[in-house]
Amino acid sequence: MEQILSSARTQLEGTPNAGHDITHTLRVRDLCLHISSIEGGDPEILEASALLHDIGRPAELKDPGTDHAALSAQLSPGILDRAGFPAQKIPAVVYAIANHRYSSGITPDSLEARILQDADRLDISGAVGAAMTFAYSGAHNRRLYHPDDPLASQREPDGKEYALDHILTKLMLLPGSMHTGTARGMAEERNRFLQSFVDQFIHEINTGRGPGNE
Ligand SMILES: [Fe+2]
Ligand SMILES: [Fe+2]
Repeated sequence: MEQILSSARTQLEGTPNAGHDITHTLRVRDLCLHISSIEGGDPEILEASALLHDIGRPAELKDPGTDHAALSAQLSPGILDRAGFPAQKIPAVVYAIANHRYSSGITPDSLEARILQDADRLDISGAVGAAMTFAYSGAHNRRLYHPDDPLASQREPDGKEYALDHILTKLMLLPGSMHTGTARGMAEERNRFLQSFVDQFIHEINTGRGPGNE
């Protein structure tokens, strides 16, 4: 597994530091193993799938026409083979990686693939998810929040323009998309933190605001 990790590190060089970099990969691996300790699944398949799931990302960043899940799946058998990973488990790893994108709308057939999807989305939830959202927004010159209507009560939310909108319309909905009960419970707990973060955020930006001094 050391050799697979070191291939993942090499492949992920050049990804933005606060985004889906090696720390994301390592957190997804740890989440996969934690979920698997309760839900079952093959930990060896999960660890390899997690380590390699995003190795196609640097290519997608350069060329948005590339599907990083498909590319990661394509690059993985060679890496696994060279690392001496059990050949009979390689197809299961490739399947989990190829189907890890939630946006593909696929509910994967294997438990390992469902756990990988859960872990990948769990890592963009909660405090870490909020930190990644703000870092990404800053890197793309987006605003923290809409100056007049931060909670989007009188407008369509726009997660591509305001970080807080992304938190409200994407991160807060993540628990409902989890496949396993373990991941759903963790996502709900993270959401409770996120809700209190949003409440405090609104409280702070509203302090001193009022009729006459808006
Ligand atoms: Fe991914
Ligand atoms: Fe990922």
